Amino acid sequence: NKTDIGLIGLAVMGENLALNLESRGWHVSVYNRTVPGVEEGVVERFINGRAKGLNIEGFTDLADFVNSIALPRKIMMMVRAGSAVDELMEQLFPYLSPGDILIDGGNSNFEDTNRRVAVAESKGFLFIGSGVSGGEEGALNGASIMPGGSVAAWQEVKPILQSIAAKAPDGTPCCDWVGPAGSGHFVKMIHNGIEYGDMQLIAEAYWVMKRLLDLDNEEMADIFAHWNEGKLRSYLIEITTNILRHKDKAGGYLLDKILDSSGQKGTGKWSVINAMELNMPLGLIATAVFERSLSAQKDLRELASRQFPNKHTQAVYNKPELVKEIYAALYASKLVSYAQGFAVLQKASDSFGWNLDLSSIARMWRGGCIIRSIFLNDIAAAFETEDKPKHLLLAPYFRDEIKGLLPGWKGLVEQAMREELPVPAFSSALNYFYSLVSADLPANMIQAQRDYFGAHTFERKDELRGQFFHENWTGHGGNTKSGTYNV
Ligand code: 6PG
Repeated sequence: NKTDIGLIGLAVMGENLALNLESRGWHVSVYNRTVPGVEEGVVERFINGRAKGLNIEGFTDLADFVNSIALPRKIMMMVRAGSAVDELMEQLFPYLSPGDILIDGGNSNFEDTNRRVAVAESKGFLFIGSGVSGGEEGALNGASIMPGGSVAAWQEVKPILQSIAAKAPDGTPCCDWVGPAGSGHFVKMIHNGIEYGDMQLIAEAYWVMKRLLDLDNEEMADIFAHWNEGKLRSYLIEITTNILRHKDKAGGYLLDKILDSSGQKGTGKWSVINAMELNMPLGLIATAVFERSLSAQKDLRELASRQFPNKHTQAVYNKPELVKEIYAALYASKLVSYAQGFAVLQKASDSFGWNLDLSSIARMWRGGCIIRSIFLNDIAAAFETEDKPKHLLLAPYFRDEIKGLLPGWKGLVEQAMREELPVPAFSSALNYFYSLVSADLPANMIQAQRDYFGAHTFERKDELRGQFFHENWTGHGGNTKSGTYNV
């Protein structure tokens, strides 16, 4: 009576995933390392605590743990992303049998996963790098799971992973095969980038309500709760309502006591770095990452705020009207963010030969994960049409939505700028939108400058388009052209 699956790493996510697996009828082996003075008794505590009386076996010896699992073994690693995964793999290899499957469920960098799939396969094993989203609650009751890597492993792990995944409102599990190599972790990375964007947008909406309308936390919570009944219905809007209403033991609103200096673990930053590598605009997420960094410069901001005191106009705003504009800015900017994120996924798919199915990815994000929302149904539907849109904002449904939202979105950004109130993500999204819908941009000037100072050449608009020219702008430059390569 060997077990069905092994799980390594009993921190928050690992522990809850083990309980979730067991609750779905799987017999589970668990292992945690023992580091004297640092990590001790973790397995015993779990087995005698939350796992007491359950179909879960605990191990502190790695060989015993591996031997307890039925062949081909499925071993899920829930350890900190980075070198810990490589070290664990090296420790596991000697005990594995051909065809055994390692699943990395952490937030690993997709390039590490590319490499690990190749290393594991070269030794006769299979490797899956899987995004797992949903935090503690998702891990326990149903997460969004985005597996990619050795495709031969999918049929083996599919029943297990789909059983612990959240179910979308139509009943489908929020877990499906993503693609080869590190694609599962790439998709999770973009999920997290979008998560950063959504959080920044909600924070801006909150800030405008607080600063321009002077609303109290309960009034703001009511507005978010109302939005949560409509097209913006999502987990992040829902928790925003709860956060606004939450009082601490002393009886005050906790939100108002939290320092405005944000941390980050890196997946948002990776999204932006990889978008840059792919030459793809991902401005909204970049703005969200940079705003976290700027928020963390609290001392500098305090100093600067004394030298440039904010000049509020004395304008009195009409509450229902401004709230409508905030809604428009939030919804339209969110559309821009998802359009940018999915465009990066498409470009990665084309560049790396992953053949990603964007509608399947949108469907996987409908439940369990942090960015779950009903809006992902519309995205899935847009990518399912035969005539796939060249850009999400050009899908007929979203194009009409944006047209309706534009006046409010524009109005809100204008007023915020007049009030010297930062709305970096709302305005970044609006600028991206205006650039996107401009057949002409001033990049002719950039090309001219590049050619002027560095002979980088330019293309012409006329019938000669397609050839590269260099102009002797000053009359005394040489005729040697620089290469025309693009990164
Ligand atoms: C999820 C989350 C999770 C992420 C945290 C922290 O999908 O469950 O994305 O994986 O680690 O949200 O991220 P930051 O510390 O970077 O904000």
